[in-house]
Amino acid sequence: MGKLSSAALCILATAATVAQAGDPYLFFTWNITYGIIYPLGVPQQGILINGQFPGPSINSTTNNNIVINVFNLLDEPFLLTWSGIQHRKNSWHDGVLGTNCPIPPRKNYTYHFQVKDQIGSYIYYPTTALHRAGGGFGCLRVNSRLLIPVPYADPEDDYTVLIGDWYSKSHAQLKALLDSGRTLARPNGVHINGRSGKGGPKDEPLFTMQPGKTYKYRICNVGLKDSLNFRIQGHPMKLVEMEGSHTVQDLYESLDVHVGQCYSVLVTADKEPRDYYAVASTRFTKEVLTATRIISYAGSKGKASPELPPAPDGWAWSLNQFRSFRWNLTASAARPNPQGSYHYGQINITRTIKLVNSATKVDGKLRYAINGVSHTNPATPLKLAEYFGASERVFKYNVISDEPKEEAAQLVSLQPNVVNITFRTFVEIILENQEKSIQSWHMDGYSFFAVAIEPGRWTPEKRKNYNLLDAVSRHTIQVFPKSWAAILLTFDNAGMWNLRSEMSERRYLGQELYMSVLSPKRSLRDEYNIPDNAHLCGAVVGLPKPDPYTI
Ligand SMILES: *[C@@H]1O[C@H](CO)[C@@H](O)[C@H](O)[C@H]1NC(C)=O
Ligand SMILES: *[C@@H]1O[C@H](CO)[C@@H](O)[C@H](O)[C@H]1NC(C)=O
Ligand SMILES: *[C@@H]1O[C@H](CO)[C@@H](O)[C@H](O)[C@H]1NC(C)=O
Ligand SMILES: *[C@@H]1O[C@H](CO)[C@@H](O)[C@H](O)[C@H]1NC(C)=O
Ligand SMILES: *[C@@H]1O[C@H](CO)[C@@H](O)[C@H](O)[C@H]1NC(C)=O
Ligand SMILES: *[C@@H]1O[C@H](CO)[C@@H](O)[C@H](O)[C@H]1NC(C)=O
Repeated sequence: MGKLSSAALCILATAATVAQAGDPYLFFTWNITYGIIYPLGVPQQGILINGQFPGPSINSTTNNNIVINVFNLLDEPFLLTWSGIQHRKNSWHDGVLGTNCPIPPRKNYTYHFQVKDQIGSYIYYPTTALHRAGGGFGCLRVNSRLLIPVPYADPEDDYTVLIGDWYSKSHAQLKALLDSGRTLARPNGVHINGRSGKGGPKDEPLFTMQPGKTYKYRICNVGLKDSLNFRIQGHPMKLVEMEGSHTVQDLYESLDVHVGQCYSVLVTADKEPRDYYAVASTRFTKEVLTATRIISYAGSKGKASPELPPAPDGWAWSLNQFRSFRWNLTASAARPNPQGSYHYGQINITRTIKLVNSATKVDGKLRYAINGVSHTNPATPLKLAEYFGASERVFKYNVISDEPKEEAAQLVSLQPNVVNITFRTFVEIILENQEKSIQSWHMDGYSFFAVAIEPGRWTPEKRKNYNLLDAVSRHTIQVFPKSWAAILLTFDNAGMWNLRSEMSERRYLGQELYMSVLSPKRSLRDEYNIPDNAHLCGAVVGLPKPDPYTI
């Protein structure tokens, strides 16, 4: 049994009480514009941040206040979300349509949030329309404060590798397809940091390593639907961190990165000094799409071998890889504080919610649903409606059942999908995928213990197979075809939190829900007030401001 060092416990305790104002601020101004990009080697319209695609990396340290003034210079409403950032007590800045009015064209909105003890690699991306298909994504790093050592030596440098599938159609054309009731069909390619390695402007090395040194690579899947396998010719990767948790440091020849997931690995430049290919290729697809980028050594003496390392085959391999991931219980670094539930295996489960995803046609148009409800976003963000006491006018709570009936998948209704969850309860969520395609689920506001993924249907007896000791605490989990996943967490972060399919097409067509976690008291200890700069829209415009939360 692992021991949590008393130093780490103490750090956790103090971090929770540190006044936000005393901590350093990082300020950013971002212009969101259209521009020409070459992800597949040919020019197409993309979404840029300050002229960049992918967007700028945010490099932060725990307890930093991050202030980002986002100017929407597109001709459509826009929002960004900070995927995996927990926003303690602060769903106001989560940047999804259930918590924020979208930033109107030509207007700006200033996000303000504090990053806490969740040392790791995260991504931000657009949540409006299908903007993510055009870009607007980037990496957000949370570093450890110098006082708190991480469980590995300082790398020589720190690289971001954003990989994703890509369509040659624009985000607007793709959205029009979905709006007309059709699917996106298959992507046209894969990119690594915005390039496929196939033509276009000169493909310079992605990174150059000094012989003998060790580098950190932060690998995240920013794509729309495909799981990707990532590998570097001749260079095994030592896994050190996953979505804010330090892992047992095993070596991997390649990693399956499902949509929305992030891994940090260490790579040592201990091979012959020449060029090597980094490869990202689609998994579980009929046709395999591949991107390659060059990773060079300083003083490189030769070109990369054209023989690419093979990708693994089949999803059983991927399931085994998932099972090999373990939380390092003895790592002394600060923990993401998964709700104080460190010994999560000993906490009694108070509620089990089974969520079953389905695809169906409603009035002849494709929709995706959870337990028979295909979510629609009302004009008034759910959180604002709730805060202003106007929820009855906007949505109903608990329209889905915790134990969906088989026929729910067929009788799909379109409406806001909001589940009421009792503050501070320890809940088990079963994500059951009865479909033939892979699924990837992300939860905002929390990290959860990913205790099992298994083929077949879930039954309560399956609990005996859970990893109740050292499952990784993370925010995104894949569910293989005809399989289920189980996650456990304590709902101690008050707010309105989005649980969504990371497959953009599925989310856009309704496969998401919100979890309303309200503190019984309107107390600032549990939740912040609506920010003064919040845009208001829908039914709450002109309503008197409710009594603020107080101490
Ligand atoms: C953002 O755009 C404005 C004009 O709309 C310009 O003045 C400003 O310099 C731009 N800022 C950045 C960081 O690109
Ligand atoms: C990011 O922040 C870390 C810790 O504050 C610092 O050591 C590092 O040099 C920074 N990296 C970049 C690229 O700014
Ligand atoms: C918009 O930007 C200005 C600075 O240019 C800032 O003063 C204002 O607070 C921002 N608006 C919002 C809603 O954040
Ligand atoms: C876990 O972290 C500790 C402390 O840094 C380290 O010594 C140990 O090797 C790690 N264990 C594994 C299995 O990776
Ligand atoms: C958990 O449930 C068991 C059996 O119902 C009970 O004996 C035990 O006291 C509970 N533990 C806690 C911490 O509530
Ligand atoms: C939500 O749950 C809380 C605690 O169980 C309960 O007090 C409240 O009435 C519920 N609200 C709705 C709208 O169901």
